[in-house]
Amino acid sequence: MPNLLIRNIHTLVQAETIRRSLVKGVDMASIPLLHEAYLLIENDRIAAFGPMAECPERADEILDATGRLVLPSWCDSHTHIVFAATREEEFVDRIRGLSYEEIAERGGGILNSARKLQAASEDELFVGAWGRLQEVIGMGTGAIEIKSGYGLTLESELKMLRVVRRLKEKSPIPVKATFLGAHAIPTAYKTCREDYISLVVNEMLPQVAGEGLADYCDVFCDQGFFTPEETDRILKAGWKWGLKPKIHANELGLTGGVQVGVANQAISVDHLEYTSEIEIEALKNSDTLPTLLPGCAFFLGIPFAPARQMMHAGLPVVLASDYNPGSCPSGNMPFVISLACAKMKMLPEEAVNAATLNGARAMELEADYGTIAVGKIANVFITTPMLSLAGLPYAFGSNVVEVVVLRGKRY
Ligand code: NIG
Ligand code: FE
Repeated sequence: MPNLLIRNIHTLVQAETIRRSLVKGVDMASIPLLHEAYLLIENDRIAAFGPMAECPERADEILDATGRLVLPSWCDSHTHIVFAATREEEFVDRIRGLSYEEIAERGGGILNSARKLQAASEDELFVGAWGRLQEVIGMGTGAIEIKSGYGLTLESELKMLRVVRRLKEKSPIPVKATFLGAHAIPTAYKTCREDYISLVVNEMLPQVAGEGLADYCDVFCDQGFFTPEETDRILKAGWKWGLKPKIHANELGLTGGVQVGVANQAISVDHLEYTSEIEIEALKNSDTLPTLLPGCAFFLGIPFAPARQMMHAGLPVVLASDYNPGSCPSGNMPFVISLACAKMKMLPEEAVNAATLNGARAMELEADYGTIAVGKIANVFITTPMLSLAGLPYAFGSNVVEVVVLRGKRY
């Protein structure tokens, strides 16, 4: 069996002997660290790790990680990487003073992306998304979730999800697909929004689920988008088709999104820039994960989610990129970690837990990804030289990922 040995690792991060399915609250501040270590991979899975004193002498391929850290790949549980065009013009409009919501009200924002996506071919969309996937893999992402939501017609939502299916088939990393037909109300339905919700529930969901095109169902539950009542209806319909909820909530206000997600047993509620004690209380009594997207808060200039309060309440915080053309045109997970530390005051250990094991959990992939454990898939990366885990967020904006290993092969 072909094997790969990484030796002289300065610090092996998140290598566990007792498997956990997620990390919560105060435990998030601890992460397993092994200094002067080796990691042995056989075929596509982790076979062993331990101190250098016990390192095997031979292997088919050997990588030397002197002065470097080895981590499990990032598990990015929230992205929108299938899109037809960037929205640079709206970025400039926001610099000049317009808000994200004002741009959306004028027919820009998601509706702008939808017009462009509707006009693009499946092949064009695939090529663009494939490029973004390669880009984020190079920055250490080793599992990813991808949403639809720029189609907003039956035909174009299916087109997007077929692109995601092609990505799943060709990608070297696992891909989870989320149906987000309820991302915005199309202009033609402004005065009859009920008809759009019926389209989502009665036509899109059955076809999406019937073709096995999605793993999860998402709704943008927020002011100016979908109400908690509409969200509830769509999520219940999703469940009927076997699609668990994973929703956008509380990005623009205290709108009840978290509560409706929790009430519908969502895997995760994502964004949460606007979170009060009530939302935290709702999350405490549930298995729903709070997923924070600091890249979006940074790019839109909105508040950062209260990560510390959530961890203080015992919650398992997740970090993801939200890579999309409007609110976060970056899938750079090391930068997400830097933002989490610098802006949300998460410790490096907390941020790394949130973006690895907890991210895997938010895609139901924790049995095979998210930590370095014997038997898990060998998706790991070697950093550039650094002294400690804090070196990762500290070097914000620098390329900190030197070597990517996917399924036991150097990528
Ligand atoms: O997660 N908030 C809703 N959806 C995306 C942004 C979509 C867009 O502006 O294109 C988000 O921020
Ligand atoms: Fe999003």
